[in-house]
Amino acid sequence: MTEQSSPTEQSSITGQNGEPGVLDLGLPDPVTDPALPKRVRIHEVGPRDGLQNESALVPVEVKAEFIARLAAAGLGTVEATSFVHPKWVPQLADAEQLMPLLAPLHERHPGLRLPVLVPNERGLDRALAHHAGEVAVFASATETFARRNLNRSADEAMEMFRPVVERAGEAGVPVRGYLSMCFGDPWEGRVPVDQVVGHGLRLLELGCAELSLGDTIGVATPGQVTALLAGFVRAGVPVEKLAVHFHDTYGQALSNTLAALRSGVTVVDASAGGLGGCPYAKSATGNLATEDLVWMLHGLGIETGVDLPRLAATSGWMARQLGRPSPSRTVRALLGPTA
Ligand code: HMG
Ligand code: MG
Repeated sequence: MTEQSSPTEQSSITGQNGEPGVLDLGLPDPVTDPALPKRVRIHEVGPRDGLQNESALVPVEVKAEFIARLAAAGLGTVEATSFVHPKWVPQLADAEQLMPLLAPLHERHPGLRLPVLVPNERGLDRALAHHAGEVAVFASATETFARRNLNRSADEAMEMFRPVVERAGEAGVPVRGYLSMCFGDPWEGRVPVDQVVGHGLRLLELGCAELSLGDTIGVATPGQVTALLAGFVRAGVPVEKLAVHFHDTYGQALSNTLAALRSGVTVVDASAGGLGGCPYAKSATGNLATEDLVWMLHGLGIETGVDLPRLAATSGWMARQLGRPSPSRTVRALLGPTA
């Protein structure tokens, strides 16, 4: 496994034909905003949310290389895979093969977090057997998506998660809770704030250390984000426990992220190159692209720890593995339209 970008990848970022690239020119020009946090933790979901939605099966060595490159680009949290039923998500059926390939990364990057998704105790058993240091359960704010994604009602899904969170706690493994369809559902339409907050509280009461609020189909707009976060704060949830997870179907993911930052959120999910979606919600497209997020955050003087050229080179490399250009605007701007 190599983690260096090739000279070609690097040079294509730092300018072509002898002219400087935008990064050489010191762009984006950072201007801070005192209403925003000084640092944001990016929860990278490309290898999981991105690759779960690829029609082609990506070889396990390529996945391991992708994760290694993301870690080398400075991403401290990289969601690696899912221990779900392999028939439900064949793209991630190689989780057992992937985990041992990632073990050396912990030595190379002390403190690196590589969480994995687990839907139930069977998934937890598999994850613990492969030394997962963090896991995530994933609930739905709507009934229809709970049934489609987990083959259960929302209540039954919560009961499925209860022993997972308990046993992970006993094993010293922190659990993140995802909540999907927080802003709209392709079958049920609008989702009331109180309904979302109710389901989110249940995940936190189970013992989830963090709650990631998902706009699974990318329909949210910034006012909705502000209103939902205010709903959680009114219910007594500290904003430090909340993360946001935007898909970019309608081009709103960055605006929604800015609204969340203004409400005090400091953990943002994103996917390198804008890969992503959910096989059980066809209207879900790629996640907010990590490069687009980093461009905005660095422009606002917000620290992320991410090396943007190295990250963009990684997404360019991954786009070539997948045989199609990256949907990220920033990747295309930095590497060229065919990246
Ligand atoms: P089910 O068919 O109801 O499972 O699926 P079951 O509990 O009835 O068990 C049936 C068989 O499957 C049993 O085997 C189990 O052992 C086995 P048998 O006894 O018949 O031989 N089984 C498993 N095998 C391996 N690993 C497991 C596992 N569980 C059961 N973990 C289940 C229920 C939850 C398993 C299924 O619905 C599932 O795997 N769903 C996952 C769907 C998924 O991964 N969706 C994408 C992730 S969510 C997402 O992308 C949204 C997010 O990004 C946020 C956002 O954008 O909003 C997070
Ligand atoms: Mg998602």
